[in-house]
Amino acid sequence: AAAATSVAELRAAVEAFEGCALKATARNTVFSDGVETAPVLLIGEAPGKDEDQQGKPFVGRSGQLLDLMLAQIGLSRRTNVLISNTIYWRPPGNRDPTPGETLACLPFAERLVALVQPKLLILTGKASAHTMLRREDGVLKLRGRRMRYEREGLAINTMVMLHPAYLLRQPQQKRLAWADLLSAESWLDEMGVARAPLP
Ligand code: URA
Repeated sequence: AAAATSVAELRAAVEAFEGCALKATARNTVFSDGVETAPVLLIGEAPGKDEDQQGKPFVGRSGQLLDLMLAQIGLSRRTNVLISNTIYWRPPGNRDPTPGETLACLPFAERLVALVQPKLLILTGKASAHTMLRREDGVLKLRGRRMRYEREGLAINTMVMLHPAYLLRQPQQKRLAWADLLSAESWLDEMGVARAPLP
């Protein structure tokens, strides 16, 4: 991971990596989708069935909800967002990744942040927040707050959001997700990040 000097090199390194056992049961490596120089980097958890089939993150039902949510604040993987995960291979039956599997993939996720150096890092879901921020607080406590991802001299503005798969299971929590999107929107405005008008 450390040797990669671009997102393309990092993708090649992930594809060649044999240190995570999940690769053996997955159909595809799922690394990223979107704009590699984007001002917003979103990191989710692990690929599911649709992502494993297509080799792209967030393309199933939760991905469709994610795209709708991002569009509300002028963000899209076509113009200004890069999307990735903390795990690059689908865990069998969508089980939770083990701590060992998570640790094996972490250097790649950290390198991605260092290469992209986004204006805003969005972490969706508990596993992503805990892994990237190295904290154990509940996601309902972490969400929507202005936080910093600090690693090796980097300090990246970061916001935790509720995972779209959680919102599909708990639709009454969508009002919290809406509040978080508005918080992210005002932070992006303060940072002068260009966003597209709603289609
Ligand atoms: N959930 C995630 O966290 N990531 C994906 O890529 C798909 C669903």
